[in-house]
Amino acid sequence: MQDAVWLREMLSHEMEVRPPRSLRVEQKILAGNVATLRIDGDLIGFTEIRNYVKTAEIATFIIDPKHRGEGNANKLVLKAIKMSPQKRIISCTKNPKMAKVLKDCGFEKTYWPGLLEYSLLTINTIKRIILMLLGLEFKRLWIQAKGFMKYKIYKLEVK
Ligand SMILES: CC(C)(COP(=O)(O)OP(=O)(O)OC[C@H]1O[C@@H](n2cnc3c(N)ncnc32)[C@H](O)[C@@H]1OP(=O)(O)O)[C@@H](O)C(=O)NCCC(=O)NCCS
Repeated sequence: MQDAVWLREMLSHEMEVRPPRSLRVEQKILAGNVATLRIDGDLIGFTEIRNYVKTAEIATFIIDPKHRGEGNANKLVLKAIKMSPQKRIISCTKNPKMAKVLKDCGFEKTYWPGLLEYSLLTINTIKRIILMLLGLEFKRLWIQAKGFMKYKIYKLEVK
């Protein structure tokens, strides 16, 4: 339960990621395909690893503000790569720090991740917009929409 409380708190404050869900749903998500970082048992980093048939996506990537600038983002990306069920991994971001971390971990910018991947990313974006509208998360929607053209897709082929 403590992990889900932490995750909800992080998601509530970070406007560049998906909106928080109920504690029950976040607990279920935490029990699924996610990579986490802990210090003394406490969560300090979280990301989802979504499986798209032949590709995995690293999404909803968060480092606790108290532990940023310490190389934790890099550690979490490397952990997510190791846990990925697929050899091809993609991640979308407009955050320059996240882009730097992805490039440092071997990702390269791509304009075309593949038809299926592009379609699933689009469907997920639509789902996220609906979630934000239903949750009356207009500030989050505005922040994500105004930088929409800045989102870039990064791709890694694990050898
Ligand atoms: C994005 C996030 C995960 C990065 O984690 P972090 O611990 O803050 O990352 P760091 O401070 O270690 O910075 C990562 C790298 O980016 C560099 N960096 C910092 N500011 C930068 C900028 N404006 N432009 C480019 N690179 C930058 C750092 O120097 C560091 O590189 P280094 O390790 O070679 O020194 C974290 O800020 C976060 O959780 N943000 C909120 C959620 C979010 O926006 N997630 C991404 C959505 S996809």
